Amino acid sequence: MNATPPPRPGKIAIVGGGVIGLSIGWRLAAAGCAVEIFERGAAGHGASWAAAGMLAAGSEVEPGERVLFGLLKHSQSLWPGFAAELAEASGIDVELRTEGTISVALSQDELGRLRQTYALQQQLGVNSRWLGRAELLEREPHLNPRLAGAILVPGDFQVENRMLVEALKLAFARAGGVLRENVGDVAVRTGTDRAVGVTAGGSDYTAETVIVAAGAWTPDVAGLPAAACPPVRPVKGQMMAVRMDPAAPILNHVLWTQKAYLVPRLDGRLLIGATTEERGFDTSLTAGGMLSLLESAWRALPGIEELPIIESWVGFRPGSRDDAPILGGTAIEGLVLATGHHRNGILLTPITADAIAGLVMTGETDPAIARFGLARFGPHEFERTKSWISA
Ligand code: FAD
Ligand code: GLY
Repeated sequence: MNATPPPRPGKIAIVGGGVIGLSIGWRLAAAGCAVEIFERGAAGHGASWAAAGMLAAGSEVEPGERVLFGLLKHSQSLWPGFAAELAEASGIDVELRTEGTISVALSQDELGRLRQTYALQQQLGVNSRWLGRAELLEREPHLNPRLAGAILVPGDFQVENRMLVEALKLAFARAGGVLRENVGDVAVRTGTDRAVGVTAGGSDYTAETVIVAAGAWTPDVAGLPAAACPPVRPVKGQMMAVRMDPAAPILNHVLWTQKAYLVPRLDGRLLIGATTEERGFDTSLTAGGMLSLLESAWRALPGIEELPIIESWVGFRPGSRDDAPILGGTAIEGLVLATGHHRNGILLTPITADAIAGLVMTGETDPAIARFGLARFGPHEFERTKSWISA
């Protein structure tokens, strides 16, 4: 006898149309739920647009992040299947590239730090190995031959995050989801003790579940009760792109130096990123920021000197107090958070989408996200971002 499927939840409203809101929406709509995403501007043009698209669980991990690393690895393992499923659902290939990631040291001092990174990777069980000069230059002939050392993490891939946004929008719409863009700031509506919907563009929309996925702006979402307001702040990143000849790219792997990373795209763009700055929502591109990125990238890959700069931009990582995402229910019934993905929101898209959609549909918390709830910060009342900046 077939088990009775769990009842579908009532209407679901998602605030924020970045990769997190869109991917959760896609999973829910594909499962037959009634979902509307409310995006104040154009969907996917926040951090999800600004990102580099690295799936760098091994290369980007830092000391003290063992628990987060488990989640990053889990999501990394989901990516190949997720990309294939998304291509099937949307007809868009998100360009999952599997060359792997190389981290280099440009001096003896940096070599010491690269050794520490390698030791940490080994402790965590990352599949990484030192590259000898011959293999390094065979893989990447345009690198500075005087580099002091290099590590390869073969399993750290990359995707084209702007294509990811487009693919998710299409997959969500094809699954029957409704995307409401350019509606201005959306507010959460709550009753006595539960979420009851959202207000967008002057109209009220009723929903049984409201998922707030507003990235770095989450604490500023109007109507979010203090008890459900997450400790998230904007972490500014400046970035630029130069153009390579796509038929003869001067880089194929993702490349990390200690002050910049370089991400080659199939269309010939070479992204150079990114600064990490505590400057609130400051949108300025600075000479110092660009200089530091270019100097570091040029020391590793001198050939960038000849390449035209085609784009530069600023994005805001949603950084939480412990740099890990904030995923799950809140003290307010029906109000769910999916935010704080900081440096890894593209990498964490598959696990976030699966786990939050699963939570909404079944009420069960996926063990993978059990340690990433808002409750880990204890009782708190987080200063909203705007007041924090003006303080
Ligand atoms: P966002 O993409 O910022 O989306 C939030 C959306 O909510 C926005 O569209 C915004 O307009 C909307 N919104 C806000 N307030 C409201 C409101 N009141 N009403 C309606 N809508 C609202 N991650 C990786 O995994 N790999 C990388 O290589 C990588 N590189 C990065 C490089 C840079 C320079 C930056 C800035 C980030 C990078 N990240 C990377 C991190 C990643 O981009 C983010 O973690 C991820 O995009 C967060 O997705 P999101 O959907 O939560 O946020
Ligand atoms: N993950 C790369 C960045 O946040 O800059």
